[in-house]
Amino acid sequence: MSEAVIEKVDNDGVVRLTINRPKALNALNSEVLVALESHLTELEAQTNLRAVLITGAGEKAFVAGADITEMRDKTPEEARAFASQALRTIKRLETLPVPVVALVNGFCLGGGCELALACDWAVASSNAVFGQPEVLLGVIPGFGGTQRLPRRVGPAMAIDLITTGRKIDAVEALRIGLVNRVMPQAELENYVEELTKQLKGNGPQSVRGAKQAVHDGMDQDLDSALALETALFAVCFAGEEQKEGMSAFVEKRKANF
Ligand code: CAA
Repeated sequence: MSEAVIEKVDNDGVVRLTINRPKALNALNSEVLVALESHLTELEAQTNLRAVLITGAGEKAFVAGADITEMRDKTPEEARAFASQALRTIKRLETLPVPVVALVNGFCLGGGCELALACDWAVASSNAVFGQPEVLLGVIPGFGGTQRLPRRVGPAMAIDLITTGRKIDAVEALRIGLVNRVMPQAELENYVEELTKQLKGNGPQSVRGAKQAVHDGMDQDLDSALALETALFAVCFAGEEQKEGMSAFVEKRKANF
């Protein structure tokens, strides 16, 4: 049997998705995008979901972009369909109700960078390389890069990266706010284990509510977004989590969510 292009491991609600095409540096082809979307459909319905980690197989690449071999002979209509599939899949990853963490373990280029931009967190190994090199191939970013990159790093830096196609190292990616943390590859797993432990120790509904407030609020004017925050804050007081969290503080014990 051929190996799955997406490997899924569920560790008690912390789900790791690994893009598994190491020989092609985990390039995103149609098969990967469809398989990823199908996993995301399942995850959307998983009630005990606490966090999602996404990474690339091997030690060389997270994702080296959309699959150039597949794209080479596409017509404009086929290219539109390919990009639409990718945008839909990436949007579903972005809007999962729990934190999504990209473990960037090497090349993170083109569609790979666009995938990482849709994650709540990006943790990079020090050998990671980032870039939007599409103009070197005669195209523009097509998996959301022209929109999510300026929202993450500001329009000036986004135009710089997108129009030059230059690659940057993990330290520069950290400096411009493209990633949250950088560390030696050997430390990545331990860090992510600590991070997921920390997330799992917090109230699951509060974590979901916080993500929803940030994501939905970003698309609104400030007053509407603040009203959304107030509504979601008030909802917390209808559940057990707030009672347990605040009682634990008053009783000087650790909350048990
Ligand atoms: N698509 C298809 N195959 C790819 C690929 C990609 N994006 N990136 C790497 N590969 C394949 C290579 O063709 C090669 O396959 P073979 O062994 O069969 O020849 C294999 O992965 C290993 O790659 P290299 O031999 O090139 O490895 P390297 O260490 O010399 O170079 C690299 C690594 C700098 C990442 C180089 O592979 C590279 O430049 N890749 C392309 C990066 C890129 O341009 N990405 C953007 C794609 S366009 C895009 O993503 C558009 C969009 O927005 C939707």
